[in-house]
Amino acid sequence: MSLEIRDLTVRLCSKKKSGKAIDCCDGINVVDSFFLTVKEKEVVSIVGESGSGKSFLGLSILRLNPPVISKIIRGEIRVRCSSQKDKVDILKLKQRELTGARGRLISMIFQDPNTSLNPVMKIGEQITEAILAHRKVSKAEAKDIAISYLDSMNIDGKFQFASYPYELSGGMRQRVMIAMAMVLNPCFLIADEPTTALDVTTSLQVLKLIKDIKERSNVGIIFITHDLTIAESISDMTCVFYAGQVMELGKTKELIENPIHPYTISLIKSIPTLSANYVPKQRLSTIPGFLTEDDFSDGKCRFYSRCFRSNKDCLMNIPLVHYDTDDRYVRCIKI
Ligand SMILES: Nc1ncnc2c1ncn2[C@@H]1O[C@H](COP(=O)(O)OP(=O)(O)OP(=O)(O)O)[C@@H](O)[C@H]1O
Ligand SMILES: [Mg+2]
Repeated sequence: MSLEIRDLTVRLCSKKKSGKAIDCCDGINVVDSFFLTVKEKEVVSIVGESGSGKSFLGLSILRLNPPVISKIIRGEIRVRCSSQKDKVDILKLKQRELTGARGRLISMIFQDPNTSLNPVMKIGEQITEAILAHRKVSKAEAKDIAISYLDSMNIDGKFQFASYPYELSGGMRQRVMIAMAMVLNPCFLIADEPTTALDVTTSLQVLKLIKDIKERSNVGIIFITHDLTIAESISDMTCVFYAGQVMELGKTKELIENPIHPYTISLIKSIPTLSANYVPKQRLSTIPGFLTEDDFSDGKCRFYSRCFRSNKDCLMNIPLVHYDTDDRYVRCIKI
């Protein structure tokens, strides 16, 4: 089983000055030459700061990127599930095939459960609807499946089946989203910051649920987060993502113990640590400036304006190159 993404490039179309016409020849590549392989039972984290294009990437893998304002320019998204002999290229599927593939080949837990769940539909019905759209089962069977999936997310399925999203806590809504994403037994799952809006305890519960899913199924997971410590706790591989590009990719443990790209180094330095006998000796390191639209433009390293090593040599497009060991890739000429 594998999910192979090659050279995926998605453009955010520019608004013409009139503010009305949208031009998709122009604009920025909000996902640029992205490549990644996910195998069964593997968790790959995509780590990057706010606005770097993580959600756009996740949505684009399912071709859910907003159509009027963005366009997939090129790439391949090949999925092979254990049940299929041939690889399917998501980008080549016709609309009807694509609808069949979503949720079954690749499923997604969306970043914000508050806007992703239908507020005027009972949660049980929302899950049942997804089952009935993809599987040949009766309504009663679909209801039983929905209840069992809610139970597996530590939600009392029978009791909460008829609840509306507003009647649940944020953590419960997030778990309903996970149940919905898993109910069709997908080969791959994209989890977009599933713990962002949650308190530490609930966040740990959701992380544990995702780890359990990994243990008891063969699903391969793309886990999107802005938090390297979460990536460390859950993933086998980590992809450090900045302004639409992979900056560094490698085995999580090796990447965190021996970061190579200046952005990864800066991210690790800026993680706060707390312990009982901690005495603050120096200010916490931060990355100067912030991510701007200009960082997405070509002709320079996208991390150029904020990098502690950048100089005029970096004023060109920097390729992602294989570094040292089999699984490590880095996009930097100053290493
Ligand atoms: N619907 C949209 N219309 C116009 N621009 C958008 C839209 N969605 C995203 N963008 C832009 O695309 C870029 C990437 O956004 P994206 O939501 O993918 O970031 P992110 O890395 O997921 O951030 P966060 O960690 O805050 O969720 C941003 O510059 C954002 O302004
Ligand atoms: Mg996002």
